[in-house]
Amino acid sequence: MSGAQEQAELAVAELLKAWDAEPDGVWAAPGRVNLIGEHVDYNGGRCLPMALTRVTAAAVRRRDDGVVRLASTDPDAPSFEGTLADLGPGQVSGWAAYAAGTLWAVQQAGVDVPGLDLAVSSDVPLGAGLSSSASLEAAVAIAAAELAGRTDDRDLRHLLIQAAIRAENEVVGAGTGGMDQTVALLAEEGSALLVHTRDFRTEPVHLGLAEAGLELMVIDTRVKHTLADGQYAKRRADCDAAARELGLEWLSDATPADVERLTDPRLRARTRHVVTENQRVDAVVELVRAGRVAEIGPLLDGSHASLRDDYEVSAVELDVVVEAAREAGALGARMVGGGFGGSAIALIRSSDAAAVGAAVVAACLDRSLTEPGILTVTSGPAARRLS
Ligand code: GLA
Repeated sequence: MSGAQEQAELAVAELLKAWDAEPDGVWAAPGRVNLIGEHVDYNGGRCLPMALTRVTAAAVRRRDDGVVRLASTDPDAPSFEGTLADLGPGQVSGWAAYAAGTLWAVQQAGVDVPGLDLAVSSDVPLGAGLSSSASLEAAVAIAAAELAGRTDDRDLRHLLIQAAIRAENEVVGAGTGGMDQTVALLAEEGSALLVHTRDFRTEPVHLGLAEAGLELMVIDTRVKHTLADGQYAKRRADCDAAARELGLEWLSDATPADVERLTDPRLRARTRHVVTENQRVDAVVELVRAGRVAEIGPLLDGSHASLRDDYEVSAVELDVVVEAAREAGALGARMVGGGFGGSAIALIRSSDAAAVGAAVVAACLDRSLTEPGILTVTSGPAARRLS
């Protein structure tokens, strides 16, 4: 049974258990891993995420009384009950804010969302930097829009991307640049998705990993440094300040010469990351399109060094697993997502998977760090109706 089907069955069982209800439909949306292009999405840059086969599934029954009830198979996620009128900023907190906030933002975008009972189940690891939150938002958004009678086309998906971004920024209160929501709603199975974050234009990029005898390994450090709270907003503020000083609307338009013009060393370093990261994304896309995916390793390594030294969002656990993976034969490795914990990726030869996995675990245990989780990932489809 595939991950999505299993999560769908668990979500349906939860709906039945919580409210003795049969669903009108079941939808699922994927988590993601970003191959390259980190902390550029809110700077108008380019990134190359891919959807995972791991999903959040939502089983949903329509209601006619404007009541919204939310439940989850996660024992740490309490049920929520409210009405369509009280799902907005300041009204819902915790996990339910992602789902309720999405329903609010989809309504705000002009979709006639009905009341509903909704139960979710997910196998996207939480807090691992794999966008469990965007997968929840995308599953809820597509379910609500279809139950409202909207036709599922590209225009609708773009509207839902913007609604999910709005929910996360305005209701949850977590900053996001939109990469995660975009790939959750527009990914194409078997490919990574080049996202131009200025206008959310996307192009599928077939990686050809299996053909090259390669795999993408995700190493979940299982650590999230709480000290990092507020750091994402601080990085965004640094980027805004640098763009202002350079007179640019988007920091991704800065040139290497602009970097040197900045007077504050911190803003200079942040901008150098943004400029070089966009260059690395372009270089990766060019190599992949030329059938040379095995040569992107040094660009992944460069991204990690830039995030660690110039953007200062790495963590000791991420540096340790990246280093250990490379020493054990990975062609390249880097931290992914917002940083300060979460996951790293390593590009490996399939034949090296066991050795790299063992080396990474040993390196963490040697340093008395939490034992990391290891998964190899393939590219899955975007948000969709399952039944
Ligand atoms: C988080 C945000 C994304 C992106 C990454 C860093 O995952 O949600 O929008 O900014 O961090 O690349």
